[in-house]
Amino acid sequence: MIERRQLLAQAAALAGASLLPGASTSAVAATRIADYPFTLGVASGEPTPDGMVLWTRLAPRPLDPDGGMPQQPVAVTWEVAEDAALRRIVAKGTARAAPGSAHAVHVEVGGLKPDRVYWYRFTAAGHASPTGRTRTTPTFDARPQRLRIAYGSCQKYEAGYWSAYDALVADAPDLVLFLGDYIYEGATGKNTVRPHPPVEAHDLATYRTRYGLYKSDPKLQAAHAAAPWMVIWDDHEVDNDYGLDQDRSNPDPALFLSRRAAAYQAYYEHMPLRRTAGPVGPNMQIYRALNWGQLAQFQFLDTRQYRNRRTCDALSEGKSIPDCPQRDDPARSLLGMPQEAWLMKTLAATTAQWNLLAQQYQMGELKRYRPELRYSNDGWDGYPACRQRIEDQWIKARVSNPIVLGGDIHCFIADELGSDPDRPVASAFVGGSISSLGAGRADLDKLAAANPHLRFTEGEKRGYGRVDLTAKGCDVTFRAVENALVQQSPAFDLAKFHVEAGRRGMHKA
Ligand SMILES: [Fe+2]
Repeated sequence: MIERRQLLAQAAALAGASLLPGASTSAVAATRIADYPFTLGVASGEPTPDGMVLWTRLAPRPLDPDGGMPQQPVAVTWEVAEDAALRRIVAKGTARAAPGSAHAVHVEVGGLKPDRVYWYRFTAAGHASPTGRTRTTPTFDARPQRLRIAYGSCQKYEAGYWSAYDALVADAPDLVLFLGDYIYEGATGKNTVRPHPPVEAHDLATYRTRYGLYKSDPKLQAAHAAAPWMVIWDDHEVDNDYGLDQDRSNPDPALFLSRRAAAYQAYYEHMPLRRTAGPVGPNMQIYRALNWGQLAQFQFLDTRQYRNRRTCDALSEGKSIPDCPQRDDPARSLLGMPQEAWLMKTLAATTAQWNLLAQQYQMGELKRYRPELRYSNDGWDGYPACRQRIEDQWIKARVSNPIVLGGDIHCFIADELGSDPDRPVASAFVGGSISSLGAGRADLDKLAAANPHLRFTEGEKRGYGRVDLTAKGCDVTFRAVENALVQQSPAFDLAKFHVEAGRRGMHKA
């Protein structure tokens, strides 16, 4: 629980921090950094046909709020090459790592060739970073033969080890999607298998050190260095179950928004996002689309920042509410109306063979009987009219082969969307969790019995999803780790599904 006093102090600190970039000069100090500064590895993201974003952060001591860096800007050079040994350099430059953004670097590279693999590295103060592998996308009108993506979510650090990433790297995906809960803000909880700071993250310093801890993990670093990532957040990058300008424990919007501003700032500092995605106060736009030639388009959603407030809270136990009439109010949106309008327009315009909606949740309705009918008011079931409008648009705009990818629920779930599961409007796949603990067999059996559109459920294994696309078909593989409670554990195929192009509905292999 965060005190009002702490949040006010932090709001004042943020107001001061925003003055720093203007106050510093463009001159970059020839700083000596005695200790190795690339402790958080490298990353790339936001690929286009001619480039991508390259990321790193200088932090010799990543568990210190300032990363162990001096309070001055530092020059960081970057190089992009056509070969892993970095002999054939095709682009290079110098970026400025400044204390106002935790000495993070976001380089937007352009001028590269489409549909090509590249390697990159940074150097600063005589130190060289690890080499990362990345790639550009095919051109917009290209028809690539295949695309392999891997997608994950929910990596609670203290709940398990991240062997899922060993398997993900071995799968050699072209693109990795992370669908939320990259960090957890909480203090140390139950079922801890590795040490974790005892305080809840609530201001810029504590969010930064939380990312410092998470991004110190070598398995996560290897996954970032293997392929470009596209990231969206869920709630725990800020606070459990938050929406719009409130969380569950703090009803004062002004206080909550100052916390949200700090959390979004730290998120931006640690992700390979474009500078245009950088936060402005408590606001930061992460909804966007990505094209992979004419083979696939991804629509990435933000279901936290713009939603209408939760409804029927007075009747809720936790996030569970009865089927109250306000739930169906068509004026309510999980996306907020501007983002929803953007999505409708994007779906009307897409010409891609596969359209993958990348969002935070298990999207289909989940009826729960306790014993009376209950719904969660945190996800889509709190905003069913919004979900219905998306399903209607898939049909009305004749969107080619819609597929939904999700996270949040810490289970592997395959389900069919729409009112008739035998004639679904789209198939949806939640790819488990990297390490956060999920539901047991008995609970999921009860859920499956009440919701016949669920085709597969598994909550006791950790892992990720893999999607292989060709013009003809979409193969989804749920990849599970044998035991995420030990440091090193092999992965296996938990379940496989096939969706044939032009036909709605999945077939379990
Ligand atoms: Fe989660």
